[in-house]
Amino acid sequence: MTPKIQELGYLGFEVSNMPRWERFATEVLGLGLGQGPQGTRRLRMDVAPARFILSEGPADDLAFPGWKLGSAAEVDAFAQHLHSQGLKSTPGTADELAVRHAEHMLHFTDPEGNRHEVYAAAPSKEAAFRSDLVASGFVTGAGGAGHLVFEADCYPDTIAFARKVLGVMLSDHIHLEPAPGVKIEVSFFHANERHHSLAVAPRAPIPGPRKRIHHFMIEAGQMADVGSARDRCLAFGLPVVMDIGQHPNDQMISFYAYTPSGFLFEFGWGGVKVDDAFWKAEAYGRVSNWGHRPYGVMPGEGPAMPAAAVEVA
Ligand SMILES: [Fe+2]
Repeated sequence: MTPKIQELGYLGFEVSNMPRWERFATEVLGLGLGQGPQGTRRLRMDVAPARFILSEGPADDLAFPGWKLGSAAEVDAFAQHLHSQGLKSTPGTADELAVRHAEHMLHFTDPEGNRHEVYAAAPSKEAAFRSDLVASGFVTGAGGAGHLVFEADCYPDTIAFARKVLGVMLSDHIHLEPAPGVKIEVSFFHANERHHSLAVAPRAPIPGPRKRIHHFMIEAGQMADVGSARDRCLAFGLPVVMDIGQHPNDQMISFYAYTPSGFLFEFGWGGVKVDDAFWKAEAYGRVSNWGHRPYGVMPGEGPAMPAAAVEVA
């Protein structure tokens, strides 16, 4: 039987400006910062030693998501599953395991060429991280680190990869028209109670730098911490690209701004929890119930989701 992915356990980013990222992560997001092996940085949210792994490099993009499995034996079983799907996988090296604080890991690629990892966590005696800036703490637990949204050139293939290879389950769809005549469908997938750990959007044909990732999301325990994070963003000089608003599917109240690498992050609160016994996948025709407008743009003055935010400018 194919092992079930438990959660999105970590995200790896390759960043060109490490000092800026260190300040952004600690002073805006309120994450904990630690030194990892081989010049990497680890960002912490909770008891896990590394929820984000930063390495220096020119890409300024996602390097890999880490999908957590229950044991090293499950990682080996997942290799068999990948083989049965016609996919090659490569075991992590000792150095890679050390950077991730993982007992076992293997990596493989999706139809877009994105690297994915499945891993078993190594035992850790580290005390849980508590954020001075995010007083309510981060919502992780069974729901994992947060969520990740890919922009896909091969949308149908990437959707099939999510369902058949990763084995995540469809939560729902949102249908959008980010520019006149440009119609896209975004698919949301869950691996646990979090409404989505992964979403896939077709790459919108709008000019702008190409990134593997559209955004990642982290969730605070109280709404007040979203407002405080927004204040810190503005004080840090980061433009808020989509101001506070609420999504119709996961009900998340959130805002979006750019990371120092030019892709977006979402900082939210209040996401619904999925119970597979009762959940029915629906389709929505809008990305926001309210809000999510560009910073300073009032209702009626602009689109709820600016085209520039669909393709990262
Ligand atoms: Fe999101």
